[in-house]
Parts: sequence; C-alpha cells; structure tokens
Amino acid sequence: MSDGGLVAELASRLVGIAIVSSDIGDDDIKGQNIESLTAYIRNHFGDGESPALLDRELLVKIKGEMQEPAPQIKVEIVRNSSFNPIAKEITEDFVIRNAAAGKTSGSVPDFTAYFNDRLDRIKEIIYNGQANKAAGLMRDIESLKQYTSGREVVIAGMVYDKVITKNGHVLVTIDDETGTQKVLFMKPFGEGPNGAMSELFAKALKIINDEVIAVRGKISGPFVMANTLIYPDVPVHQMKKTEDDMAIAFTSDVHVGSKLFGEKQFGRFVDWMNGRYDYKKGLAERIKYIVVSGDLVDGIGVYPNQERELAIDDIYKQYSEFFTLFSKIPEYVHIFILTGNHDAVQRAEPQPQLPNEFYKDFKLSNMHLVSNPGYVTLNGIRVLGYHGTSLDSIIQGIPGCSYSKPEGAMLEILKRRHLSPIYGDNPIVPLKSDSMVIDKVPDILHMGHLHKNGYAEYHGTLIVNSGTWQERTGFQVRMGHVPTPAILPVYEAKQGVMSTVDFNGAFS
Ligand SMILES: [Fe+2]
Repeated sequence: MSDGGLVAELASRLVGIAIVSSDIGDDDIKGQNIESLTAYIRNHFGDGESPALLDRELLVKIKGEMQEPAPQIKVEIVRNSSFNPIAKEITEDFVIRNAAAGKTSGSVPDFTAYFNDRLDRIKEIIYNGQANKAAGLMRDIESLKQYTSGREVVIAGMVYDKVITKNGHVLVTIDDETGTQKVLFMKPFGEGPNGAMSELFAKALKIINDEVIAVRGKISGPFVMANTLIYPDVPVHQMKKTEDDMAIAFTSDVHVGSKLFGEKQFGRFVDWMNGRYDYKKGLAERIKYIVVSGDLVDGIGVYPNQERELAIDDIYKQYSEFFTLFSKIPEYVHIFILTGNHDAVQRAEPQPQLPNEFYKDFKLSNMHLVSNPGYVTLNGIRVLGYHGTSLDSIIQGIPGCSYSKPEGAMLEILKRRHLSPIYGDNPIVPLKSDSMVIDKVPDILHMGHLHKNGYAEYHGTLIVNSGTWQERTGFQVRMGHVPTPAILPVYEAKQGVMSTVDFNGAFS
C-alpha cells in the first residue's frame, strides 16, 4: 500500500486521536470528504487518553456509517406517554431588552461621543460599586493638576496605551475628555509582604487597551505610582433561583448549512426535548426556556472558499432549515434567538435581531428574536446573552486566557463590565449609547463563538459558554482548537444547579 498524500493528510488531522495503520492506502480515502471523514473518526474514538489504532477494517466500517442517510427529523412529534413536562404548567414570564440598534456615519465625533459614553457609564459603575476602594475618585484627569508630588489620589480613565518599560515596569496611559495621565505599576523586587505587590503587578499585566480602569496611587512628577488597580467588577451576590421548578437550556453556534453540522446529534436533542428518551428525562421535563447565542446558520461568504464547506449554499434555505429544526421543540418552551458573526445581519456590534425575511414562513409563537447582545429576564433570572466575537481579542490580549477555557476570558469581560473592550479587531457601531457596557449585573452570562463549553461561577453570576453543534472544522484543526459539539448546558433554576446533556453518545 502506498503512503501518499491522502494518508498523510488524514494522519495529520488525527494526531492525538488515532494512529493510521500502514494497511490503509490513498485508494481507501479517495473520493471521501476528508473533513467529514475526520469528524466521523473523531466521533468514533472520542477523546481517549492516548491515540487509538485506525486500521483498514475499521475505516471501511466508518465509511459505511457515513453513507447511512441522516435520520430525518420527524414532522409528527410523538411523545412518550410517560413524559410529564411540568414546564408546560409554568406560566411564562419573560422580558427582552434588545440593544439599541442603528447606524452612524462613523465619523470622529461619533466615536468621541461613543467612547465618552462608555467612560462615563463605567466610571459610574466603579463609583457606585467600589465605594471603599474608589473613595475620593476624582472628577476628571484635569483635576489632578491642583496636586503636587506625594499626594495620594484616585483617578479613572480609558486605557489609551500600555507598554512595558526597559526596566520591566508597566506604564499605562489613561485618558478622558480633559487630558491624559501616565500611571506606573512598578515591577516588584521579589515577593512583597503577602505577595500584595506581585498581585498588583500581575493584574497590571492584564490591562488592555480601551478598557476603563481606576487606580489609587501617589503622584510622582508626571506619574501616578499605582498601589491599587480598581475594576468596575460585579458585586458579590446570591445566585438567583426561582420558586418554580424550571430549567433554562443554553445553546449556540448551531451552524445549520455547514457540512459539519451535527444533524444526528441535534435530532437527538429535539427528540429528547419531546420526551423520547429516558436519559435525564426529568431535566427535559423542566426546560421552560432555551437561549441561543448566535451563529444560527453557517452563512454564505463569511470567509474565503466557504462554499466548499457548505451542505446548503442558500442563506434562505439555511434559515428555513434552522427554523424547521427549532419548530420541533415543544411550543410551551420559549426560545430566545440572538445573532452572531455568521448570521445575515451587519457584522458590527451591537447586531440587530434577525430580519423578518428569514423566518416569515414560520409561526413563531414561542420563538423570540433578540439582538446581540441582549438581555432576557426569565422568571426573574436576568440572562445576558452575547455571541462572544470579542473573545478572540480578549484571548490574544490577556495573559492566561485561552481557547480551551472560554469561562476564563468571559470572566475578564464580566469584571470589566464591557462585552468588547478592545477596539479594533471586533468592529462596533459608535452609537451615542454604548450597548456593550454591562450596565446590569447578569445572573447568567451566556456566550458561544469559541465552540467550546465552559462554566464558572463568579460572585454569584453564572458564566456559561454553550459550545456548538458543528464538528471540528479545518480552520480549527489548523489553529489547534478542539471544539465540544452537542453538549447542552442546563440551569436548574429552583435548585441553582448547572448540569449538561451530552448528545454524542448512545441514547436510550
Ligand atoms: Fe460559530
């Protein structure tokens, strides 16, 4: 058997998952979609501790499975008679707050007004929420001029620039409408008492451009020598629960229309919601709401040569399929549908709700179109949904953040009370009011985009990244990202407990 290009290509895609046996040749792979084949093989082996052996016999079996027609989503929903959806008896109680949408010319005054709004509102959050740390917060940077060296001050501003000096200190320039100020975070000489200085310096290294911070420190010539870095943060609060025994499911990045959309797994989810399986049935019975955080479909022309990756190459048909799938979910479940960077709306954020033309043929009595970002309050639980496109720049900009732990990057966003702090890579519309400011403390912060599930609890706010329904893409292989498709996080709101349902495995 030859060990040619196709075998080598397959082997490189399966590094860490499977070792390709020498009895496999190019002829065994020819004519197969290598992306799909890789996804099937990966599914077959799962995430084992060490790579498994893929021999020719197994490959033939997997190719056979690929040829089986995907199970059709049943049009007639047949519910198991023992299914007792108690969520049906719970009266829906929801409030949607969409982000202010609109267009601007993107002129310099527009951006000035936009950034001033961001600064003013986050400064207010700092002032109201950090009363002790920020006591004595100065009105503006110009007010500093009245003081001389040695005076302790508290000052806030937007980060204009951050550099590491040749001596290793962190030098940050903050600004506001009245001026700029240099703030120095000294590199510690070894560990200080209780590691306090080291902790401050570690925090300083995580400062990013365009975020709003406050610092306490002493004036020293042209500098403020910082001793405290103050973020707006979220106050410590009790995790919100409900009286009713109900649950909220979170999902994202469905990517309908992609060849790698997990149709089989999504079919299981729909059947599970209809009580067709005994597996975690009690949880399915209590789901009253589903929040979908964008990338509903794969889209068209989102990146070069995308057409090669598409199973449905018509944007209207992609949405038609999306709404057909979600129409199978019982009507007593209310579904909140945000947009993302693959959806057919403007790319710049805040993104508006999906336009009517994409769902006009569907009866949407239980589906609600929401902007990105958008707040939905569900029986008193405030959920902030955001697709998460800014997570890329957060992961690049903040040491310690990574694609494998989306909850870490989401936590940095929450502390900064801004969904897209770094201006640049992630385009924003400079509206008069910055809808990306997290002005209300969410009980649950929900995102997607990274195609990787992750959860954390911080100060009483639940952080959820709900992953995807798309198998690993070629782009993700090249980038070394490993997605976690078809895992549904569910918040049991009466108990205050998070759990997940994995639709990849065998179901009964
Ligand atoms: Fe996505």
